[in-house]
Amino acid sequence: MLIASWRLNLRPVLLTLLLAAVSLAQDKNPHTSADDVDAGARIFRSHCADCHGLSGQGGKGPDLTTGQFYHGSSDAALLYNISEGISGTAMPSQFFSVDQVWQIVAYVRTLSVKGSAKAPPGNALQGAQLFRSKGCVNCHLVRGEGGVKGPELSFIGSQRPVAQIRKSIEDPNAEVDRAFWMADIILEDGTPYKGFLLNEDTYYAQMLHPVKGLVTLPKRNFRKFEIQKTSSMPSYQGKLQEEEMQNLVAYLWSLQRARRTE
Ligand code: HEC
Ligand code: HEC
Repeated sequence: MLIASWRLNLRPVLLTLLLAAVSLAQDKNPHTSADDVDAGARIFRSHCADCHGLSGQGGKGPDLTTGQFYHGSSDAALLYNISEGISGTAMPSQFFSVDQVWQIVAYVRTLSVKGSAKAPPGNALQGAQLFRSKGCVNCHLVRGEGGVKGPELSFIGSQRPVAQIRKSIEDPNAEVDRAFWMADIILEDGTPYKGFLLNEDTYYAQMLHPVKGLVTLPKRNFRKFEIQKTSSMPSYQGKLQEEEMQNLVAYLWSLQRARRTE
């Protein structure tokens, strides 16, 4: 058991050492020819576009066209983040060779458009006030304050492009992450349970209940079991004036990770 886990943990350690060695030896991308960029583009379309958009404009992952990278902007940092992924986030690690990752880095560089990191229109300070007065804070945690009925938004500005942030507010149902599907359960004895469905198999359903926390319920006791794939967030389309919407988006966009400079 001990040996097994030691072996399991070895791969990232070795990879880190390898990458450290590579990036020490080679801080600059050695693969930047037109052919390299083409090869990188092909990998990007098949492995990255799903989250970062076909032209890097962002989606489930951040906009990669701004030329600014929160997790490090040097060639070595990009090489590392694209190989290793970013732990604790949806950004996965990849199994490409170092040469291939350099080709991806070369392509990602071509996506940068100068000046596209401009702040969106709107007043972020007023947006912060709206975030409270419109009740967003009841469901969303921002930097240690707020509710947990929705995802934490502390760094949403570096995780999603502006258009996606706005869309989440106007049309929450457009795309609901599986983690936010709701289970609506009534037990044989009449007890209701409603919360985020975490897991289910043939016999059990596991949910995150807003009051009871993590609960595992045996399905044989269910009188009702419905899964709602719609968002529990209300749509604010038409409930906010255009200026208010812009202020909210400006506020959320301002919630960014500190940038690493190297
Ligand atoms: C499943 C979705 C997903 C896939 C697939 C994905 N990414 Fe990401 N990526 C993310 C998310 C989410 C982040 C933001 C992490 C954070 O900061 O919270 C990210 C961050 C990054 C960053 C760092 C951005 C910064 O500001 O420092 C780079 C560079 C990047 N991705 C490139 C890629 C490349 C290249 C690929 C394909 C080889 C890829 N990603 C595949 C979701 C994804
Ligand atoms: C009743 C709880 C609730 C309220 C109130 C609420 N939200 Fe949400 N919000 C959620 C849930 C749940 C999700 C995740 C499911 C989804 O995608 O809609 C979400 C998703 C989001 C996302 C997308 C997050 C991501 O990771 O892409 C943004 C942005 C957001 N909300 C902003 C707001 C703003 C701004 C307000 C106030 C105007 C607000 N929310 C009010 C529950 C809420």
